[in-house]
Amino acid sequence: MARPAHICVMPGDGIGPEVTSQAIRVLEIVGKIAGVGLEFHTETVGGCCIDETGTALTPSGLRHAKRSAAVLFGAVGGPKWDDPTASVRPEDGLLALRKGLGLFANLRPVQVFGPLAAASPLKGDISSVDFIVVRELTGGLYFGKPKRVWDTPSGRRAVDTCAYSEVEIERVLRTGFTLARQRRSKLASVDKANVLATGRLWRQVATRLAREHADVQVEHVLVDTCAMRLVTRPQDFDVIVTENTFGDILTDEAAVIGGSMGMMPSASLGAGRLGLYEPIHGSAPDIAGKGIANPLAAILSAALLLRYSLGLEAAARTVEHAVDTVIDRGLRTADIAGGSKFVGTVEMADAVISVIKDLGVEGGP
Ligand code: IPM
Ligand code: MN
Repeated sequence: MARPAHICVMPGDGIGPEVTSQAIRVLEIVGKIAGVGLEFHTETVGGCCIDETGTALTPSGLRHAKRSAAVLFGAVGGPKWDDPTASVRPEDGLLALRKGLGLFANLRPVQVFGPLAAASPLKGDISSVDFIVVRELTGGLYFGKPKRVWDTPSGRRAVDTCAYSEVEIERVLRTGFTLARQRRSKLASVDKANVLATGRLWRQVATRLAREHADVQVEHVLVDTCAMRLVTRPQDFDVIVTENTFGDILTDEAAVIGGSMGMMPSASLGAGRLGLYEPIHGSAPDIAGKGIANPLAAILSAALLLRYSLGLEAAARTVEHAVDTVIDRGLRTADIAGGSKFVGTVEMADAVISVIKDLGVEGGP
């Protein structure tokens, strides 16, 4: 057997540890069946890391993540650390990881799990919705300087800065074009070029790359229009590429189209194979420790880890197929509507694992 792949696990806060441990169980069984060695090493991040160390990500945590094949991330944050005047916040840990690992492209696929379509807030037939948002993740309004709150004689002021270099825009758009070519060859470049300078640069770069990718059908969409079209004609989108903050907002909107945010995974990628995989949902402190959280977004994030960081496409598909199967069979955690059998976090993962065992993994023994 080849050398084992090291997975850095960062469970974080709230339901993060509960769902992440189920995703690990799934990875372990897939690794065993496919004959792929996986080693897991846990690091602290977020609010619990602040409590232990005073910072949301330790230098050794970042170092270990850098040396891993992939990072499996849970969720960070909670009311305990919500003070807006605090000098350090749980979210800082996640932002430092994204930046420190150079993960500039955040992939957030949006699909409808057939049986959950009725729980969608949208009317009409949404079964054909299938798109992916590529959110720029290490620049834009999140990281631009200056960024601060300060006192002035006439009261306090605050500033955030949206800044982009052409290189930053180009590389994330290229990720989008590559994905579009593997999908339905449609790309929506989303900006605010009618108001923002960064939007104008974004549009110029997208226009140049569109010429290079004549086989991809490109449209430029203003972010406000995109927000509207996500609820009026989500079926029309294939790949959407956008700025960090726009992508944050649009993906929360997009995540509910399919009926439950508890099902939505994400992958954050950079120039190499190393990626960070996390559910889109947050730490849900209200249900933490109750054993009722939906582990499927974390499990689907593990599938993305198999696909993008380990190159195990067949294994990734097996996990995704197993999740489809348990949903089809009517298993539901409390956050997902309909169904015939209500289960807790561990039982849901048990069901996924038993389907995987039945199916086997292509290429495995
Ligand atoms: C997300 C989250 C994060 C973000 C927070 C937790 C920093 O909302 O991944 O979408 O804003 O990027
Ligand atoms: Mn968000």
